[in-house]
Amino acid sequence: MKIIRDVHKLQQVCLDLRSQGLKIALVPTMGCFHEGHLSLMRWARQNCDQLIVSLFVNPTQFAPHEDLAAYPRDLERDKDLAQKEGVDILFTPGTEDLYLPGHSTWVEVPDLARNLCGASRPTHFRGVATIVCKLFNLTLPHVAVFGQKDWQQLTIIKRMVRDLNLPIDVVGRPIVREPDGLAMSSRNTYLSLTERKQACFIYKGLLMAQTMVKDTHEQAETIKRALKEFYQKNIPAGRIDYIELVHPEQLTPVSLIDQPTLLAVAIFLGKARLIDNILLRGKG
Ligand code: PAF
Repeated sequence: MKIIRDVHKLQQVCLDLRSQGLKIALVPTMGCFHEGHLSLMRWARQNCDQLIVSLFVNPTQFAPHEDLAAYPRDLERDKDLAQKEGVDILFTPGTEDLYLPGHSTWVEVPDLARNLCGASRPTHFRGVATIVCKLFNLTLPHVAVFGQKDWQQLTIIKRMVRDLNLPIDVVGRPIVREPDGLAMSSRNTYLSLTERKQACFIYKGLLMAQTMVKDTHEQAETIKRALKEFYQKNIPAGRIDYIELVHPEQLTPVSLIDQPTLLAVAIFLGKARLIDNILLRGKG
């Protein structure tokens, strides 16, 4: 496995790989790998010739009051795990390598970034779209792989790729969960024991909603009300940021669940803000 920090070197290596006709996959990450990341790497390894993993905690997607400084980092462990997954190139730039003084170009997908996580993190997706666009330009991938836990992020990246005519196939892969259902996330490490015990109810609530819509065309408001009560009862240490039912691609609110609908939630729990989602398939 090559470890490259220099952006120019990376771009040159990737140009060479492309000229050899090799199919390049990029898995963009912020490190502190868990099974979710590793599942993306495994898929990419199996489906492409060259696997590049970027590891960069991108400051522009954190607001000043958020957890940039505390975000978990463990480069040595990540290197070992990447090596074991057969990663060809681990890209580990520093902030100064990616954001030059006077950086003033941003990529925004405002229509998809306003609601859900965008409502409480108004500058987050601008930072994500910009860094992902930069990573695409540096690694020149044929395929880029993202987790579906960050559904809004995945949707925004797909739209960016479509709108900017980037020749990249964006692949979303299923959420990987702990045995009790909690979606894997680097931020789970922030949870205390009590918070961790309550956190598994986030997914249990989503499953409850799925059962509710199985046989009927439920109103979104009915689901939201039931889920709010469920979370207040089972996650007393938590504070609901949002519970939303939206069109899976447009991310616009849905009032009747009569077609595939994304149920997405975000909950503040201790120092963590946890997100999760499920695709509900009502009749129709
Ligand atoms: O999902 C993440 O880890 C980050 O948002 C990403 C896509 C690597 C961009 O920094």
